Amino acid sequence: SVSKIHRIASIPGDGIGVDITEAAIQVLDTLSKTLGGFEFEFKTFDWSSRAYLERGWYMPPDGLDRLKEYDAIYFGAVGSPDVPDHISLWSLILPIRKALNQYVNIRPTRILPGTISPLTSCATSPTFLDWVIVRENSEGEYSGQGGISHEHSPNAVATEVSIFTQAGIERIMRFAFETARARPRKKLTMVTKSNAQRHGMVLWDKVFFDVAKEYPDVEIDKMLVDAMTVRMVLNPQSMDTIVATNLHADILSDLAAALSGSIGIASSSNLDPTRQNPSMFEPIHGSAPDIAGKGIANPVGAFWSAAEMVRWLGEGEAADGLMKAVENVTGAGIKTKDLGGDRNTREVTDAVCAEIERLF
Ligand code: NAI
Ligand code: MG
Repeated sequence: SVSKIHRIASIPGDGIGVDITEAAIQVLDTLSKTLGGFEFEFKTFDWSSRAYLERGWYMPPDGLDRLKEYDAIYFGAVGSPDVPDHISLWSLILPIRKALNQYVNIRPTRILPGTISPLTSCATSPTFLDWVIVRENSEGEYSGQGGISHEHSPNAVATEVSIFTQAGIERIMRFAFETARARPRKKLTMVTKSNAQRHGMVLWDKVFFDVAKEYPDVEIDKMLVDAMTVRMVLNPQSMDTIVATNLHADILSDLAAALSGSIGIASSSNLDPTRQNPSMFEPIHGSAPDIAGKGIANPVGAFWSAAEMVRWLGEGEAADGLMKAVENVTGAGIKTKDLGGDRNTREVTDAVCAEIERLF
């Protein structure tokens, strides 16, 4: 029989991004060989801060167009202590998200078997933390508008302009309601700061409540972002799907990852729901210069992101199988140091591959 070929552009980037991308590719190859019916064809792009320091550019001028030829993009992490972070971020990941219309960023969080949440002591049930954060990924506080005048002088003036558009808010709210509706609890919490930010955030709230009328079966509530941090820590079981702006969801999803045990397990999907462009899948963590090159990075966030990619490509059974294998491995105590274990990246990766072969 002919197997379906998924063409993946892989951008390992910097630091531990390189280690965990290699681990993800190994696991994905094991998955396709074991299950059969589909194959991955990877093309690696050496677009990184390392390369930038040598040759002066991250992406070639036709880089964004070349990415459009693939079915999906797998991204490690970008960032180096030798390049200002706003240069690395705005040279690679942010242009990709914008040019490929990846206006949704999905960040699921739950507590994997064998991992310990800092909240476990106040937990009421094993599933007390099971969230999906839906992040607006195209505008808001990361619109890139603004400027600086009188730079390098005591009179320097800078503006950082947030952009909120009716169309941009509406499409993210609709995606969030669909996400909430597809989950058993059908609950959506909207995060805002419309008490202090009285223009963009007020429009954000209004569009949310307008779209809500189309989803009477979804239970809704509204939280100010500062109070949201308190609720995430003290009452995690009260939430399910969460929708927030680019900046708010960026911050809250790091908190969510920490509350689930480690930033090293969390995944992030940058989606173009119209499917006109490839979507991009990456762990939420950065290049972690403090542990780069040591071979100890937790690859679980990379595997979870790979599973989300596989699901987006239509291979639901494979995605479920990959997550099952990861959970069996963490459940057996095979974990990296950030999760309280003593295994390295390679050992966890080999264990997940062996578990995939055992399961199928
Ligand atoms: P980071 O996520 O790289 O690291 C934060 C802390 O978490 C560090 O102590 C690190 O060792 C630990 N950590 C992260 N991932 C881990 C993993 N898989 N296993 C074990 N421990 C892990 O964030 P940081 O330090 O703020 O940023 C470092 C660089 O990464 C910066 O240049 C930043 O701009 C960049 N960055 C890039 C992102 C991306 O490519 N999407 C996202 C976040 C940061
Ligand atoms: Mg972040």
